[in-house]
Amino acid sequence: MSNGPTNVSRETSSRVPGMLDGSPFDAEDFGRTPFGSISADTPIAAEAQRASQVLHPAAMNIPRPREQRIITIANQKGGVGKTTTAVNLAAALAVQGMTVLVIDLDPQGNASTALGVEHHSGVPSSYELLLGEIPVKDTIQQSPHNERLLCIPATIDLAGAEIELVSMVAREGRLKSSIEQANLAGYDIDYVMIDCPPSLGLLTVNALVAAKEVLIPIQCEYYALEGVGQLLRNIGLVQSHLNPHLHVSTVILTMYDGRTKLADQVAEEVRGHFGDVVLKAVIPRSVKVSEAPGYGMTVLDYDPGSRGAMSYLDAGREMAARTVGAAPETGLVAAVPIATEGDEVNEERGR
Ligand SMILES: Nc1ncnc2c1ncn2[C@@H]1O[C@H](COP(=O)(O)OP(=O)(O)OP(=O)(O)O)[C@@H](O)[C@H]1O
Ligand SMILES: [Mg+2]
Repeated sequence: MSNGPTNVSRETSSRVPGMLDGSPFDAEDFGRTPFGSISADTPIAAEAQRASQVLHPAAMNIPRPREQRIITIANQKGGVGKTTTAVNLAAALAVQGMTVLVIDLDPQGNASTALGVEHHSGVPSSYELLLGEIPVKDTIQQSPHNERLLCIPATIDLAGAEIELVSMVAREGRLKSSIEQANLAGYDIDYVMIDCPPSLGLLTVNALVAAKEVLIPIQCEYYALEGVGQLLRNIGLVQSHLNPHLHVSTVILTMYDGRTKLADQVAEEVRGHFGDVVLKAVIPRSVKVSEAPGYGMTVLDYDPGSRGAMSYLDAGREMAARTVGAAPETGLVAAVPIATEGDEVNEERGR
């Protein structure tokens, strides 16, 4: 699975709205490579130079968070880009010097596939972790493409966990206590990203109890916000009963297609509702992003110069600039008010 294709992409190098000013890939930087200056007159040359910068990231390091950030990536709507965002954001942070652990909490095991780690039945996984049968350190695997990118895989065994958990003591807090017992901080991990299944069942609740932050990916399509009200209410319930620190720190717009008006309308509506919590970096719809998992790779490894890779790098930089508890005047605090009981605002969209 590892003999990926050439790194030369046929995608255009045009930027998508929201690509950050001050990104390490600003136009004037394209001519600088570890081998000196090369003209980047053509799209392919520009892309090759961007790829070179990703592969030689010395100048790209971002600040480490003051404390380990545990981020749950949730949206009960299926196919909105949860897994794609979890693995590519993790890779983008790892490329920029962070140590990142992805916990795959979806029985589909898509994050494990994309990170190129083993996840056949019998491999120590998030299932054993939830059941408390095995220490965290025995479940962690290193992604073959980046030593700073770690993964606790999901195997098919996790499919039964929703049911098995029902009868267990402290069933909502099992992931949290497994992570705490192992003192993940001892691994020197900067970010933990938990990829959730498309449901609001016990697996997602475990992820919400274990994290401080929630990242919600929203696809730039019709019905994008449908169900988000219910997600926010569930987050509110977990916050008030199980995890007072929990808050929505980040919303990311995925699969943006600049050729459609709809994408802009959705982006505008999401920004109108969530405000600064929405990352400026928008993830474009990109063939490279969708092809990468087929090679057991993130788009950062599969095609480092592509627009998809650039947008996740920008998103990673923006995330890193947002520190939980930062002063509001910095504009970096991203705690969204959690919807209260009966708030139907988001449910109405698209009808
Ligand atoms: N930016 C993108 N451009 C093109 N395709 C994308 C992009 N992001 C995600 N996809 C594709 O969309 C599909 C759904 O993405 P993904 O698996 O990340 O969603 P998900 O929310 O994790 O789904 P599920 O709810 O099933 O877990 C996948 O085939 C993925 O390759
Ligand atoms: Mg998924």
